[in-house]
Amino acid sequence: MLEKNIAELLNDQINKELYSAYLYLDFANYFEDEGLDGFAHWYEIQAQEERDHAFMIRRYLLDNGHRVTFGAIAKPDKVFKTHLDPLEAGLEHEKYVTSLITAIYTAAFAAKDFKTMQFLDWFVKEQGEEEKNADDLIKKMKLFGSEPKGLYMLNQELSARVYTPATAAD
Ligand code: FEO
Repeated sequence: MLEKNIAELLNDQINKELYSAYLYLDFANYFEDEGLDGFAHWYEIQAQEERDHAFMIRRYLLDNGHRVTFGAIAKPDKVFKTHLDPLEAGLEHEKYVTSLITAIYTAAFAAKDFKTMQFLDWFVKEQGEEEKNADDLIKKMKLFGSEPKGLYMLNQELSARVYTPATAAD
């Protein structure tokens, strides 16, 4: 069994990950509307990965004898004025998620819960990758996205993203 506060933080994190999936699907909706199907595809895959993160945490709680309870998922409420806006909102969101994972890790460390720390190691690494991906995308958009041919090429590049289910073995 896990300490109550750690189980609660992990339970809350399921909601945050599902919200992340919802948020990125909302980004995909925006890009579909803008005719940028490659960007939409990239964020659809991002949403699938976030759902995987939620499932992984749910499974960890269940496998450690905890009941999982769900709260309401918040409505994504961002309004975008430029194609760069969702990309920057994505990086901000990933930084926020990193802070949440760090808080759970800190609680697990304080409780000498090495099992949860080991479980969270995957998420710490993943957050590093997600922040980098979001940052790379912003850089590419700033470099190439302001003229039609560059935007077209970037859209093509993003359409090639392949979904691979996230597992703790990655
Ligand atoms: Fe599950 Fe993008 O953090």
